[in-house]
Amino acid sequence: MLSYRHSFHAGNHADVLKHATQALILEKLKAKDKPFVYVDSHSGAGLYRLDSEEARKTAEYETGIGRLFAALSDYPELSSYDAVIRQLNPKGALQYYPGSPAIAGAMLREQDKLVLMELHNREIDVLRKNMGRDRRVTIYHRDGFERLSAILPLPVRRGLVLIDPSYEIKEDYQHTLNAVVSAWKKWPVGIFAIWYPILSRQRDRSRWLLQQLSRMPFANLLVAELAVSEQAEDYGMHGSGMVIVNAPWQLDEQLSALLPRLKDCLAPNGQGQCRVEWLIEPK
Ligand SMILES: C[S@@+](CC[C@H](N)C(=O)[O-])C[C@H]1O[C@@H](n2cnc3c(N)ncnc32)[C@H](O)[C@@H]1O
Repeated sequence: MLSYRHSFHAGNHADVLKHATQALILEKLKAKDKPFVYVDSHSGAGLYRLDSEEARKTAEYETGIGRLFAALSDYPELSSYDAVIRQLNPKGALQYYPGSPAIAGAMLREQDKLVLMELHNREIDVLRKNMGRDRRVTIYHRDGFERLSAILPLPVRRGLVLIDPSYEIKEDYQHTLNAVVSAWKKWPVGIFAIWYPILSRQRDRSRWLLQQLSRMPFANLLVAELAVSEQAEDYGMHGSGMVIVNAPWQLDEQLSALLPRLKDCLAPNGQGQCRVEWLIEPK
């Protein structure tokens, strides 16, 4: 039984890191006219209302996109992310927040394709309503960990896979590792961007995941982390990371310039931390 609903967390600091990184990678893929594919193994609902009961209950977006929104025009490298959010909120007040499928849907071109996977019985219905009318989109109501390698290789050579599980169960770390490795074997040139939470020391399994990934013979492996408060034993998710296999050229430089500024905006208390590092250096 899946109980995680992303509507409680949409637009929080972790979404900002994830979606800013996603938008930067999609921009790089768009630099060439040749078509590419965007695959989302854990899509969620695609689009969220920030005035829903769920979003209001946790109000996580207030310390995420709520802090960044007014300042987004100061981040030219995030102009596409900014444009997607502004298009959804034409009156200026934040009412909707795009999930990763809606960001990709808005950024991709006619020649590109989206493949979206979601397992939750209710989320898939909302995802279909939000994204199903777009003829570039294929949606699977399936386990994304398994389905990912089943659809590979694709006829299109270039693309990005976002792997963004809820890590509701600790096995999700092993499932993520297995899914990335088997998908990469079938598509060694694909870009794989994996999101993970940074939790209190006792519960944190992300160090294990990074260690395992850094032992793989990938061409490169880049990590970008952003924490908005100091690590405390009893606190839940105080930060998150993106680890990227086959990170595109100069993504490291862009993230290195962006993250300290995002940190200052999202953690005005001065307790934020960030890092961008190669776990496997490009040759
Ligand atoms: C963190 S949310 C995704 C958010 C989305 N990627 C975004 O950024 O807008 C994780 C989603 O994965 C779904 N999920 C959980 N286990 C799954 C599985 N094995 N396969 C596919 N989806 C799964 C959950 O129902 C949830 O909607």
